[in-house]
Amino acid sequence: SGNIASLKEVFKKDFGIGTAMNTPQIEERDPKVNAFIKEQFNMVTPENIMKAEELHPQWDVYNFTLADKLVEYGKKNNIRINAHALIWHSQLPAFARRIQDVDSFKTFFKNHITTVATRYEGKVFSWDVVNEALNEDGTMRKSIFLSKLGDDFVTEAFRLAQAATPTAELYYNDYNNEQPKKRAGCLALVKKVKDAGVRIDGVGIQGHWHAGKVPFKEIEESLLQYAALGLKVMFTELDIEVLPRNFSGADISQRMKEDPSLNPYANGLPDSVQQQLASDYEQLFKLFLKHKDKITRVTFWGVHDGQSWLNGWPVRGRTNYPLLFDRQLQPKPAFYSVVGLKQAK
Ligand code: G3I
Repeated sequence: SGNIASLKEVFKKDFGIGTAMNTPQIEERDPKVNAFIKEQFNMVTPENIMKAEELHPQWDVYNFTLADKLVEYGKKNNIRINAHALIWHSQLPAFARRIQDVDSFKTFFKNHITTVATRYEGKVFSWDVVNEALNEDGTMRKSIFLSKLGDDFVTEAFRLAQAATPTAELYYNDYNNEQPKKRAGCLALVKKVKDAGVRIDGVGIQGHWHAGKVPFKEIEESLLQYAALGLKVMFTELDIEVLPRNFSGADISQRMKEDPSLNPYANGLPDSVQQQLASDYEQLFKLFLKHKDKITRVTFWGVHDGQSWLNGWPVRGRTNYPLLFDRQLQPKPAFYSVVGLKQAK
């Protein structure tokens, strides 16, 4: 892979280029993949291992092994760690989901943020302090955090994080927060934190989009509006999937074996879809470059297609193609269209 361009080098003067790393990569099980990560990316987000479920399995038990390893990996390879995520309704440990009384829940909330953020103070570049607290209509999502702590929990989370890790940048992160209603909710949420005198440094737009349906106009409006609040804007979990999500029923995996149309690209991506993906990524990066003064990083949600969460969601066992590198770590047409934006001039 030494003879292909390096994304981090190509966009060096523009914004950081990140990837999510999952357990096998943090454990360096495949040296080829780890060498590739070093070549292509200068920032990393742990895909799962810094979530509460992984770090904090029981009231008094923390498991920092993999997170510490990732921090070491970053230090050794000069890669920034964008830690993810302190407070999220999903992937919460079972013990926390079962807490009944408000005071105990408050204690869990405070202990979790303080213990984790303190441990990595000075060691990670940033934290997604709160992840996905909003509904599509911009109201607060129903969650154990909302029901136990009320809608000030977001501000409280940032307050606690700020105290525990004064040098880390602190972000709010969500998906679809480029869409007008959710964006309005997100802007209001951020203002609320700021008005309380609590520091919030940026907003992450996750960027889980669909080929042929990337909302360019809303993305541009959003990054301008978030930036106008004095926030750093970043694209934190970028992928563009090619499969439909309109599945229902738990039996889909079985049906998929009998009906190949449910996994239409199992044997490869047709040229037309490949080109659509390339054109979507090209337009997207064109937009990023146009506003590069407002965008601090673009992080892909995975290194290569074979390892993307989108092969397993909403049902397991499909074959998706959402990233710039294929299952053999070869650059796809989308990679060349993105890199070509810089080489053209
Ligand atoms: O670790 C267990 C393993 O022990 C077990 O054998 C295996 C079998 O099910 O599951 C493993 O856990 C899985 C975990 O990923 C680690 O690979 C979970 O089942 C699986 O649900 C989990 O999925 C992650 C998902 O968040 C959870 O909600 C995806 O990898 C991860 O990409 C995804 O990331 C989220 C962001 O954090 C927030 N934004 C949306 C994004 C996509 O959903």
